[in-house]
Parts: sequence; structure tokens; C-alpha cells
Amino acid sequence: MTRPFFSRDRISHFELFDRHAETAINKIKERMNTGEAIEFQDLISRFTLDSATEFLFGSCVHSLHSDLPYPHTSSSPYKQRGGELSKAEAFAKAFQAAQDVIGTRARVGSVWPLMEFLGDKSAEHMRIVDDYLFPILQNAIERNKQDQVSGILDKENPDGVVEDETLLDHLVKFTSDPVVLHDEILNIMIAGRDTTAITLTALIYLLTQHPETLQRLRKEILQVVGPSRRPTYDDIREMKFLRAVINETLRLFPAVPFDVRYPLKDVLVPNSADPSKPWFIPRMTSLSYCVWLMHRRTDYWGPDAEEFDPDRFLDERVHKYLTPNPFIFLPFNAGPRICLGQQFAYNEMSFFMVRLLQTFSDITLDSSAHAPDTRVPAEWAGVPW
Ligand code: HEM
Repeated sequence: MTRPFFSRDRISHFELFDRHAETAINKIKERMNTGEAIEFQDLISRFTLDSATEFLFGSCVHSLHSDLPYPHTSSSPYKQRGGELSKAEAFAKAFQAAQDVIGTRARVGSVWPLMEFLGDKSAEHMRIVDDYLFPILQNAIERNKQDQVSGILDKENPDGVVEDETLLDHLVKFTSDPVVLHDEILNIMIAGRDTTAITLTALIYLLTQHPETLQRLRKEILQVVGPSRRPTYDDIREMKFLRAVINETLRLFPAVPFDVRYPLKDVLVPNSADPSKPWFIPRMTSLSYCVWLMHRRTDYWGPDAEEFDPDRFLDERVHKYLTPNPFIFLPFNAGPRICLGQQFAYNEMSFFMVRLLQTFSDITLDSSAHAPDTRVPAEWAGVPW
């Protein structure tokens, strides 16, 4: 049901990225005027949340409109500002809190119900999420019914993808079951929001550590798009260094660092160490693989595998390592269950980077803005990642 929605690039997505990128960049400028640091991970998570809620169900939660957090050293009088949350803000907060509960369950493993024998810790958060989402779903189902009655839907192409529809508009053509719609929308929000935000956070961190890469990237952006024009899909395709920087970030800091598969029947898996002795894997064995480690293996990527070097996606190393063995690079997985939003994610991340570097010529890491208990211990300096 969902795949056709992601099958092509849409102008409407660039329009919405542009609006939210502008709000985010204005927030950065406002904060810069006070001379204080911004927490980029927080800011970019709001950008991806606002973009996702708008393109998924057409109701942006405008998390970028709320105050940004202040550095722990800040003396701003607004630092402790609280106040009542709007319904959309409460949704954003509860969505995050529910994800934290689910993340803990995944880490604890199958015994997690023991930790929640007094009650489901996600229930209150999900109530707030559902209070916000179900009326939107119900509305879309009703609209679709009316469109069918009035014959607005294209009879030749009832399941076709329409340029500026949301994913919800698309899905209601297949099902009017609110639970299926609810689960599918939230599933994609989880798949697409943090992954993109985390990758952009890692990218910005890497640029602060590699100012020469930042300057080269900015040069490419200014050459292709200029200082103020909105980038197009063609511009983004043309910016090879931008793609290389994103790929190198995804290689060193893959947002999905490990994954699991279960064979549906008994299988033999080739053993590269001894091809005469394949591995026997009984059905439903949990097989996990660590993309993070695969992406740093010197036998796959060469002796400089631990180094940040976007050129490895552009120079002769592509033909030496990647082309003959494409499965060494798996940030989006591969095969039939490859990430559905891969292209969307590249577009969103590229778009944001273009707008950011059109506006700012330098980015500096302000370690003093971190609360002391969140700082990297000094003795870790120089230790390989
Ligand atoms: C940097 C950003 C992203 C990364 C690194 C990423 C990574 C991945 C990975 C590794 C999987 C496979 C998971 C598995 O099968 O076990 C996956 C699946 C998926 N991703 Fe992404 N993703 C990103 C962004 C997005 C975005 C923006 C969307 C949607 C807007 C999205 C939607 C999905 C969906 C729907 C699946 C499930 C596909 C299926 O099972 O058929 N992802 N993603």
C-alpha cells in the first residue's frame, strides 16, 4: 500500500522542507544573536518531526515554534520557561516518551513485561498520541467516502499517486480501518524521523571536526545553487560531494547500527572461511548483524576504514571496494525490505544541508554548552571510534 507513495520525487515535499528549514534556520539566527549555542540534535529532530507530520497526515505539529533548550551555562531569564502545551506539542512530547519506553523494552528483551507488571508504561503517552491522531484519521476516512460519493476520485486511476496528497490521503484509498491507518502512519514516523535527524546530527558533528570538508561542501553548494535559490531535485542530483559526505556519515554512524533476521526455514549459509563447510542455521534462529562494525572493517573498506573521508565514495576506492561488493554498505539495508524512504531521506537531508550552508559559513562545536555529566570523558580523546 505504501510503496507507490514513495516511488517518485514530489515538488510538494521540497516546498514543505523549505518552509520548515526556513523556520529552523530563523531559530538558529535568533539564538546566535544572543551569543549562545544551539543544541543541533534537538533542533533537527523538530525539523524532521514537523516535516514528517505534515507529509504523513497533513497536520504539522509545529514543534519548531516552541522555545529551543538553553545551554546549561545559560543565564537567560527564559531558561526555565514552562507553560501549558498545545495538543500538537503534547503529541510530539508523548510520541518521544512512548518511543523511550519501547526502546527500553527492546534493550531489556523478552522479560520486559516484568518491569511493567504494575502497568503498561507506554499507555498514558499513547493515549495522548491517539487523542491527537484518531480525529485526523477519522476525518481522512470521511473525506475519502465523500470523494467517492461525489466521484472526485479519478476512476481510471483510483489507487494512483496524486502530487500533493499526504501518505494518509493515499492510504485511505486502500483501507478505512483506523487501526491499520494508525499503525502504518506511526510506523513510518518512527522509521523516518529519528533516522534522518540522527544522521544530520552526526553529519554536523563531523563537519565541526573537519572544517576543510565543510568549506568544500559549501563551495559546491554555492556553485550549484548559489547563495539563496531553493535547490531543485536536479541540483541535488548534481551535488556529488554532498552525496559523498552524507554517505560517509551513514558509513561511520549508521542510524540503524544493527539489524536482525529470522530464516523461515532451515538454511545453509556460505562460509567464506571454508567454502566446503557452510553454516547450518535452523529455522527461526535470530541472526543479528552489526552494520556499524561492517562499515568499519578494514578488509571491506581498506586500511583507512576508521577515517572520515567522503572521497572514498568518489575516487578509485569506489571501484576497488564498493562496486565489486555493494553489500559492504548497508545503511538502508538491501533486498526486498530495503528502506522505503531512502530517496526521501537523501532529499530531506540534502535539502536541509543546502539551506544551512547557504546561510552559515562556519559551524563550531561548543563543548562548554553540554552539561558536565554529558561531556565526553577527557581520557577518550584520541581513542579510535
Ligand atoms: C537516514 C535515514 C534512514 C535510514 C538510515 C533508514 C534505514 C532503514 C533500514 C536499515 C531499514 C530496514 C529495517 C529492517 O528491515 O530491519 C529501513 C526500513 C524502512 N524505512 Fe528507513 N531509513 C531512513 C529514513 C527513512 C524515511 C525518511 C522513511 C519514510 C519517510 C523510511 C521508511 C522506512 C520504511 C517504511 C521501512 C520498512 C520497509 C519494509 O519493511 O518493507 N526510512 N530503513
